[in-house]
Amino acid sequence: FMLVPLVACESIYSVDDSAGLGRRFDGIGGLSGGGATSKLLVNYPEKQLNQILDYLFKPNFGASLQILKVEIGGDGQSTDGTESSHMHEPWDENYERGYEWWLMVEAKKRNPNIKLYGLPWSFPGWIGNGTQNPYINPDVTTDYIIRWIKAAKKLYDLDLDFVGIWNERNYDIPYIKTLKAGLIANGFNNIQLVAADGDWGISDDILKDPAFAKAVDIIGVHYPGTTTTNQSVETGKPLWSSEDYSTYNDEVGAGCWARILNQNYVNGNMTSTISWNLIASYYLSLPFGRDGLMTAVEPWSGHYVVQDPIWVSAHTTQFSEIGWRYLKHGLGSGHLDNGGSYVSLMSPDSKDFTMVIETMSHDHSKCIRPGLPEYSVKPQNATFSLTGSLASVKELNVWRSRLTFGRSASDSIFKNLSKIKVISGQITLSLGVDEIYTLTTVATGTKGSYGDSPDSAKFPLPYADDFESYPEFSEAFNWVPQAGVWEVRQSQNPSARKVNRQVMLNPPVAWCALQEAPINLGGSQFWSDLFIQMDVLVPSVNGTSGVMLGARMTQGGCQVGSTDGVFFTVFPSSDSGSFLYIVSNDTARKNILLSGFYAASLGLDVWHHLSLIVRGDSVYGYVGIDSVFQIPSVNIPPTGFVAYGTADYGIADFDNFQVESSG
Ligand code: GAL
Repeated sequence: FMLVPLVACESIYSVDDSAGLGRRFDGIGGLSGGGATSKLLVNYPEKQLNQILDYLFKPNFGASLQILKVEIGGDGQSTDGTESSHMHEPWDENYERGYEWWLMVEAKKRNPNIKLYGLPWSFPGWIGNGTQNPYINPDVTTDYIIRWIKAAKKLYDLDLDFVGIWNERNYDIPYIKTLKAGLIANGFNNIQLVAADGDWGISDDILKDPAFAKAVDIIGVHYPGTTTTNQSVETGKPLWSSEDYSTYNDEVGAGCWARILNQNYVNGNMTSTISWNLIASYYLSLPFGRDGLMTAVEPWSGHYVVQDPIWVSAHTTQFSEIGWRYLKHGLGSGHLDNGGSYVSLMSPDSKDFTMVIETMSHDHSKCIRPGLPEYSVKPQNATFSLTGSLASVKELNVWRSRLTFGRSASDSIFKNLSKIKVISGQITLSLGVDEIYTLTTVATGTKGSYGDSPDSAKFPLPYADDFESYPEFSEAFNWVPQAGVWEVRQSQNPSARKVNRQVMLNPPVAWCALQEAPINLGGSQFWSDLFIQMDVLVPSVNGTSGVMLGARMTQGGCQVGSTDGVFFTVFPSSDSGSFLYIVSNDTARKNILLSGFYAASLGLDVWHHLSLIVRGDSVYGYVGIDSVFQIPSVNIPPTGFVAYGTADYGIADFDNFQVESSG
């Protein structure tokens, strides 16, 4: 038989700047939020926290990200939890909530040049003025956004670079014009509007309306599948994939990221790509578990994993800067003849040059969406012929990653190989399948490492939190609100201790299914037999109607309304004779297991001690020492998170949470 040569054929690609350059490179970024994706990062032990932040942001170390996009919290569920708004009500204003401020500060500390981009998912209810439309009064919404931008500057010395409209929802031309005018009127001339974090359709409106065209600085689309439209190119605007990736961060995820980072430019003229999400720091069983550039879901152990997408990012970010220019299609950027792609970037002074090549195969680079048309990649020799000002390049640094799908050693990712000489103006590479190469004049690349992180461990049990250790207004660690917003607050009633308070009085302008019952989850999705206790207080002014303790909760995110579990809700009131209680499988109390009136008073403005015991298929509920109900055998899921919540929007205080095994 005949041996088939491994290398199919050889092609020559011209890399040439003499006819001018292509589009300006606007950076590779990560997105925290949309929503609560960084929740479990905040309380990592300081040492590991600094390491993780270095892997994400430190120049010449890891992903070395060039853009940080964050959610402008809007009080509503935005994928893996809710993020707090800076104005729950028109009369309320506070900039110490949530964790995006902190994250932006940490990113800037490591890279003062990182660009910042803010975008809302949901909005507090008052923005809709009784509707679910955040554009009902463009001036009000503009003022709301500008306050957030001003506070970033005033309180955290953060300059926002980009601001968006409404994540993946309809845009409103009058609002966008008003927002742009508002930014300018407030001296934020440098802040660019990205619109509309949706699809390419906005280009038609931009082409039709010159005033609208003036208001939009950048067209940002989501999950474009690397392609654009003629109309979008015609607008002359920078085109961004302002949210992309959202793929499980194994080697296929890395392949997806490598392919789209190059091909978003090659096929779609896009000059920035932003990963949803920055870091997967939310419980694994919440929606889209591990769809981040790396994973950190165990603040209690300090365990984290630096996954391949970090190093795929590094192939571009460590060897380029925002403001560099791509080389033109066919003159430094394009497709390889046997599958894969290459892009070239040049510094403004033409001194530095970087080329990134990827040969990701179809099945090893599928992203979550959209579908990827079939194509094939073969091993190939590629010769790049450097001309124009590149003719003077004598040698290039080489960084290579081989995605091996478990077949070989782990040092095959982001490896510094020996320099390659340019011979007679040419370099030839023998490219395998599923490889990434960076060829660059930049000599500062580093595969940063802090060694192994601590061993993985389960969520600690028993676990308790009295909420005394937090600054006021902050969010308690490990608890992820799925509807409603909880803040640690100083309690006036009756002691001066701190409590965890559900603070929302009204439902938000929702980004996904509006939930009527605020709920905060935590612990482990694998928890089964538990004894859960918590103190609760419902105030007579602005209070909720009921308070809940729950266990075996199976689902959060936008599907929180269809979670299974067991939820024990009591309804305090001024009636001294009895109180209503409901035991349900769901948070909306539609699938009721048991309900009734218990003959005791459960007053307002006083603390009550609630307990819930689940063991096998038995459930027991107590208020103080009163056994309110016993259900010896019932259909409940075998495991799930613990939860507490309120029956509807309105204040309730929670304190002294305790959980231990009841097994
Ligand atoms: C996007 C959305 C993100 C997140 C992601 C999950 O459409 O903007 O917030 O939900 O999908 O893939």
